[in-house]
Amino acid sequence: MRADHLSAAATLRVDGLRKAFGEKTVLDGLTFDVSSGEVVSLLGANGSGKSTSLRCVVGLERPDAGTIVVDGVTGKPGEAMPTVAMVFQKIHLVPRRSVLDNVCAGALGRLGLSRSWSVLAFPRELQEEAMACLDRVGLADRAREKAGRLSGGQQQRVAVARALCQRAKVLLADEPVSALDPAASEQVMNLLRSLADDDGLAVAAVLHQPDLARRFSDRILGLAGGSLVFDSPAAEVDDDTVAGLYRPALEALEAAEAARTKEFA
Ligand SMILES: Nc1ncnc2c1ncn2[C@@H]1O[C@H](COP(=O)(O)OP(=O)(O)O)[C@@H](O)[C@H]1O
Ligand SMILES: [Mg+2]
Repeated sequence: MRADHLSAAATLRVDGLRKAFGEKTVLDGLTFDVSSGEVVSLLGANGSGKSTSLRCVVGLERPDAGTIVVDGVTGKPGEAMPTVAMVFQKIHLVPRRSVLDNVCAGALGRLGLSRSWSVLAFPRELQEEAMACLDRVGLADRAREKAGRLSGGQQQRVAVARALCQRAKVLLADEPVSALDPAASEQVMNLLRSLADDDGLAVAAVLHQPDLARRFSDRILGLAGGSLVFDSPAAEVDDDTVAGLYRPALEALEAAEAARTKEFA
């Protein structure tokens, strides 16, 4: 594992993250980093803490302990950092607003504008920047359409454009392709890869498909019980290593099933 010597130059450094919900420890000292230009995938069984870790980094959850440093700036627990954006499996766009408005909304935080943008006309310079972001994701021609009319894959790319308009340096993605068909998944993964390669973003993505993780990421982090099991170059993570992440969950399921069967015997 290389996470015990965090790279001082990394764009995102997560060190000793802890989080419990009630009695349940969900993050148990999680430590990892992601550099500019790097795509890192997080793999792990359901409940291993993947979403919670990203939600802590983006400020949607307040960690109990640990530090999050982005581009040299230490975050305040539970507070959003303008340099970190996140996209989700369930895409959060305002379906009745235009694609362009949805992208402009990415800049609300950094411009200190109100969140209630339903009556707001965005400044021209912002609209131009948003158009450039849409162009970056290949959807400039859809700018005037209502976001809700686009396909799932296109909406996910709009969500990425919104992150670009936020001028994020770290892009977090929680199962960004789980709701998409294979062709759209491929497009979104290619986009994340090129944002790292060509734009220097630091990308961390929770994926459920080990093959996608291997093809598109530089490193794969394996999570179990809220801590790292491995942090390895993607090419070195074989099927057995991946299967090991899910085995405890399977064994627990089998044990529960066996207990139930016994109960009714
Ligand atoms: N807001 C919450 N309140 C209570 N428990 C939570 C909350 N969010 C997540 N959990 C629990 O934390 C554990 C880890 O969840 P999560 O980070 O979503 O896992 P993953 O994304 O790896 O499936 C799960 O057991 C989940 O039930
Ligand atoms: Mg999750």
